[in-house]
Amino acid sequence: MSGKILIVDDEVLILELARLLLTTRGYEVLTAASGEECLTRLRSERPCLVLLDYMLPDRDGMTLLQTVRRDFPDTYVIMLTGQGNETIAVEVMKAGAADYISKPFGNQDLIDRIENVLRIRRIEIHNRELRRERERLLGEIEEWNRELEQRVAAKSRELEKAHAEVLQAEKLASLGHLAAGMAHEIRNPLNVISLFGQMLKPVLAEDPEKLGYVERLLGEVDRIDSILMKLLLASGRSRGTTREVFLQNVVEAVLAGFEPQLDSFGIELELDVEAGLPPMQADPEEVEQIFSNLFANAIYEMKEGGRLGVRLSGEGGRIRIQVRDTGQGIPAENLPRIFDPFFTTKPRGTGFGLSLVLRIVKTYQGHIKVTSDTGQGTVFDIDFPAS
Ligand SMILES: Nc1ncnc2c1ncn2[C@@H]1O[C@H](COP(=O)(O)OP(=O)(O)OP(=O)(O)O)[C@@H](O)[C@H]1O
Ligand SMILES: [Mg+2]
Repeated sequence: MSGKILIVDDEVLILELARLLLTTRGYEVLTAASGEECLTRLRSERPCLVLLDYMLPDRDGMTLLQTVRRDFPDTYVIMLTGQGNETIAVEVMKAGAADYISKPFGNQDLIDRIENVLRIRRIEIHNRELRRERERLLGEIEEWNRELEQRVAAKSRELEKAHAEVLQAEKLASLGHLAAGMAHEIRNPLNVISLFGQMLKPVLAEDPEKLGYVERLLGEVDRIDSILMKLLLASGRSRGTTREVFLQNVVEAVLAGFEPQLDSFGIELELDVEAGLPPMQADPEEVEQIFSNLFANAIYEMKEGGRLGVRLSGEGGRIRIQVRDTGQGIPAENLPRIFDPFFTTKPRGTGFGLSLVLRIVKTYQGHIKVTSDTGQGTVFDIDFPAS
């Protein structure tokens, strides 16, 4: 702000006197002889202080004072009032004047009051700036707080997810413990049953009805055996040797096995393999299990036809696998449970399929993600580090 002072008075003598006095004191002085001129000057010059005569020909002093205070808050006002009118003095102070001085004024008195008001003005403006700065800083702190809260929330979500994964791993581990022992114990007597069944077959060759019973029996024994095998696989006790595996070869081999089902259900296949995909280091049988379980689940949902999408791609040193179907989808309430061992919605399901897939994905430092919309279908996304 400049050191400008505007003097507003219709008495030329007073204007000139004040101008002389203040100019010699080093102030830059502007003058106005009417309320109208006062406002024009205020707008173009923005003085720090106005000496404003209460009795102007064209304006009511009080209204003008209020206008100045409202529209030019950085311009302070000293009112010039007539002698002996204390009521007016009180009124103008209430209306926002910084001081008042009655005419005729003494020179030193005028100077003292002006200096005093200018000092107060400097302090007040400085205070206002400090307050503004404080508010800005408070705003900034609030913004930091919000950011911090968001980061904490994101970390908590990550933690929750990690916790869920640990739980899942524990479930698989305890399943593994139980399964390995049980499957082992059960498979021994099962082998004996199977052996005696086989021995009965030639004996009953002449009796097709009884032979049929034995074959049913052997069929069920096989089913139990394959369930136990799945359980063993899911429990992670059967890791074979690893070698370089090209996923597209595995996908093609597994798909060939499902061809009859794809044909008979009228399922369209959309296979999309990125060229030059690197191999991964894995047990090929385990990789096969991933695809055969995902395909079996997808096909199960599309008995009335649909589209099975398989995409293999590479990105940033990782291999990505996507398996999509256009089946019934997974209801939201089931989503958190589908990787649980024993969770199944199928009358003859074991509920081991996806827990096996998850176990294998984890074995190879991979991630698996499922998205599903009821009625729209399901998408499984897996990624592995390339070897
Ligand atoms: N593509 C899919 N679409 C809809 N639901 C699915 C899909 N894949 C899995 N599910 C759901 O997840 C459950 C668990 O699947 P998982 O493969 O572990 O066992 P299952 O298929 O029921 O049994 P099994 O694999 O022994 O046949 C299924 O019962 C089904 O409810
Ligand atoms: Mg399954």
